[in-house]
Amino acid sequence: MQNFSSVVQKITHGECCRLLLSEKKIQKRVKELGQQISRDYHGCCPILIGVLKGGFVFIADLIRELTIDCEVDFIKISSYGNKKNSSGKIKLNNKLDCQVEGRDIIVVEDIVDSGLSVKFLQKHLSKLKPRTLRFVTLLLKSEMVQQDVNVDYVGFEIPSEFVVGYGLDYSQKLRNLRAVYVLDNEAEKLFD
Ligand code: PRP
Repeated sequence: MQNFSSVVQKITHGECCRLLLSEKKIQKRVKELGQQISRDYHGCCPILIGVLKGGFVFIADLIRELTIDCEVDFIKISSYGNKKNSSGKIKLNNKLDCQVEGRDIIVVEDIVDSGLSVKFLQKHLSKLKPRTLRFVTLLLKSEMVQQDVNVDYVGFEIPSEFVVGYGLDYSQKLRNLRAVYVLDNEAEKLFD
């Protein structure tokens, strides 16, 4: 098992992966999204609900780009499946602390892949009677959205490839990379 710095060295040298979104590009886009949300919610105090685990990096950066009052909460969902594919079954792992009824809710996702998580959360949160309910995602796999889902704010549309970094994991690791990378089929070698 390799240590983190040797894995990072391999990744930054393009071994088993390629850079998709640089740290600078992500920061610029997160700032724009923050500005857009601040304009749209001017005079309001939305609750941003981060979807764990993957959404924690994005929400941390996004709220610091907001120029309006906001509250933060987290929801943890997971899909049963293997390392690279979601199985289509979503599990809710915690309850929210906040009262959703009558509030403006913005769900913060790191990635929308099949769209099943968004669809699940849309159904679940709608039952709690928010005043408004919107979704923001850093990454949208546009070709993979087979479901009838609406995402209101999208950072980047990306191709249908396996991505890691900036909150997204490979086997629970690599969430702490500052950029987003596409892993290829040799990715297991990173951890040999
Ligand atoms: C990822 C991601 C989204 C979901 C999107 O979570 O964080 O919540 O998949 O996929 P979908 O559009 O196909 O539903 P994952 O289940 O990998 O858990 P994690 O965030 O804890 O890594």
